[in-house]
Amino acid sequence: MLSQSLLTWYDQNRRDLPWRGTRDPYRIWLSEIMLQQTQTETVKGYYARFLVRFPTVTSLASAGEDEVLKLWEGLGYYSRARNLHAAAKAVAASDGVFPPDAAGLRRLPGIGPYAANAIASIAYGEVAPALDGNQARVLSRVLAWEEPLKTPFDLLSPALELISRDRPGDYNQALMDLGATICLPKRPDCDRCPVRPWCRACREDAAPDYPRRVAPVAKKQQDWTILLITCGGGTLVRRRPRGLLGGLYEFVALQGHPDRDALPALLNEKGFSGVEILEPLPDAKHVFTHLVWHMRGWRAVCTAYPPDYAPADDLDALAFPSALRTYRTAALKPSP
Ligand code: ADE
Repeated sequence: MLSQSLLTWYDQNRRDLPWRGTRDPYRIWLSEIMLQQTQTETVKGYYARFLVRFPTVTSLASAGEDEVLKLWEGLGYYSRARNLHAAAKAVAASDGVFPPDAAGLRRLPGIGPYAANAIASIAYGEVAPALDGNQARVLSRVLAWEEPLKTPFDLLSPALELISRDRPGDYNQALMDLGATICLPKRPDCDRCPVRPWCRACREDAAPDYPRRVAPVAKKQQDWTILLITCGGGTLVRRRPRGLLGGLYEFVALQGHPDRDALPALLNEKGFSGVEILEPLPDAKHVFTHLVWHMRGWRAVCTAYPPDYAPADDLDALAFPSALRTYRTAALKPSP
């Protein structure tokens, strides 16, 4: 059987990861949320630091959002951190007890079908396929699945037939490890694969051709001008409202790439006065899932600014998106 062969392989080859060897739903939940969209190696350090500061769900629930976001800084996709905090509060309100199954977990903020199934299978032994991109790649090859996948859950019914009834959590994690080490996107190592005897794509010598792809949508391109404006002491910052990167801090920004000479008047329209542009900063580019920012930067001074901004004395204490790293670094250096 595929599941038996996979589990035997997993018992001998499993990756030694810090969130393995526990059935504490808090720790498993935290790892699954961090691992969404983020490489395992990157997650390790964040996971350890987070658990030192927040060893229990109730300690997380009683923290301030700024501190949670600060510990998340650099991991990206910050709605994950805001949802994590909201979900911790909901769990704390139920005496710190997590919902006992995948259906209940899904009602918590930030827990989608993948995370609910991963957590329920690993923590509770629920027979629930954790269908993410990796698992979808392996299964689409095993099945030689011809339809492009809109979501990995398009494979739910065959996945339910294949999953181990005895060890569903290990089975799910075995597929994650297989997807990360052997059934790789471009160069699958079929010679070393424990599910090779059951894999139709491998039999047809076509594993790299699955999953079948739909044409990618073009990313929206946006031009921004980032301004490090000092007024008296620190650089002016404000907290971003809800939405993309909501809750993180940002510098003054203008849409587009206006000429240097046009900047003081444009800033004046936004409530800044006495603006003097000092020097250009390096360009930067940041690629999000659906969006690309092309940024130009300037150092400047002003004599007055609108009330949503404030000069920051200690930029290191505030959470900034990675997208602004170039300008944050520049802001930490004194202007010449
Ligand atoms: N990716 C997502 N969840 C994971 C887990 N539990 N182990 C390894 N990689 C993962």
